Amino acid sequence: MSPAALSFTVEPRSDALPDDLREAALVDPGFGKTFTDHMVLATWTTDEGWHDAKVTARGPLSLDPSAAVLHYGQEIFEGMKAYRHPDNSVWTFRPEINAARFARSARRLALPELSVADFIESLRALVSTDEKWVPSGDAEETSLYLRPFMFASEAFLGVRPAAEVTYCVIASPAGPYFAGGLKPVSIWLSADYTRAAPGGTGAAKCGGNYAASLAAQVQARANGCDQVAFLDAVEHRWVEELGGMNLFFVHGDGTVVTPELTGTILEGVTRASIIELAADLGLKVEERRISIDEWRDGAASGEITEVFACGTAAVVTPVGRLAWQGGEVMIGDHDNDGGVGPVTGSIRHTLLDLQYGRTADTRGWLTRLV
Ligand code: COI
Repeated sequence: MSPAALSFTVEPRSDALPDDLREAALVDPGFGKTFTDHMVLATWTTDEGWHDAKVTARGPLSLDPSAAVLHYGQEIFEGMKAYRHPDNSVWTFRPEINAARFARSARRLALPELSVADFIESLRALVSTDEKWVPSGDAEETSLYLRPFMFASEAFLGVRPAAEVTYCVIASPAGPYFAGGLKPVSIWLSADYTRAAPGGTGAAKCGGNYAASLAAQVQARANGCDQVAFLDAVEHRWVEELGGMNLFFVHGDGTVVTPELTGTILEGVTRASIIELAADLGLKVEERRISIDEWRDGAASGEITEVFACGTAAVVTPVGRLAWQGGEVMIGDHDNDGGVGPVTGSIRHTLLDLQYGRTADTRGWLTRLV
């Protein structure tokens, strides 16, 4: 990795949240509701490239109403976490993979690339400034969620790649993504909508993919489900992913199957990590196409014993029920262990133990931030 080219100037704010209020905010933080004192900002222009990189007081951004992102959605983001280890050090998980995906997303959205080193340096600069906001690693699943993003800030209504772009990182203390903590979620199968089509932006982490998933998510909620699952846009037959998470299926013989990457599925860092960790646990892992009939029939017959969703925010979350217009099927036996099946549970704990420094990092997946 070439060294960071950008140096992030730190402008500490004098009105940071008092210790007692910050401590209170770290108790049961939920997801995405509270934010630290600072943020990273950097600007890119066609003339100057990346410049003005800094850590500064978090606050509203000033945008011209004609800023291209507000009209054409030229925006990308990442989701990562900082974990506090038992010795008080703070680490993040496979940041170079997020950085590489951020660069791929940038290329797809015609945004400028940020180098892997600059991306990681920006995280280090923010987390070391706001280190006190990293929750203790004692609770089941608390961390500091990091949200790097980049958007077209040029004031111009013509449709072309923006000549001025803003990079920003904000940080948010986080507990479990789903309110109510770790329990099986229910999934609504979308018949009306698809998330991504071949040649589109499905593999990029851009805001537009998430905006496009929301009408289907509304249908899921209206039908009593927590999340929506999308099928492929061509045959409406192959299982792709949820609104913001990848899927895994556990078979009775211990085989773990996840939809293969097709260019329309997000290449999840958690997904890729689970594929390796599951193999280490002695499980057979397959990346292949999974039809919706295989899911429905397999869950009904008991051939599919567990299904789980995964992502940085949701970690590993069991799926308890699949519903669609006119039917539903329960998955596995969710009376045990609070609804977490044994394979889901062991993959989840293997991942969390590694991220929180409770087991040795034999692959070099962790990067120290503070
Ligand atoms: C993540 O897992 O970090 C995600 O990006 C999912 C969602 C919160 C957008």
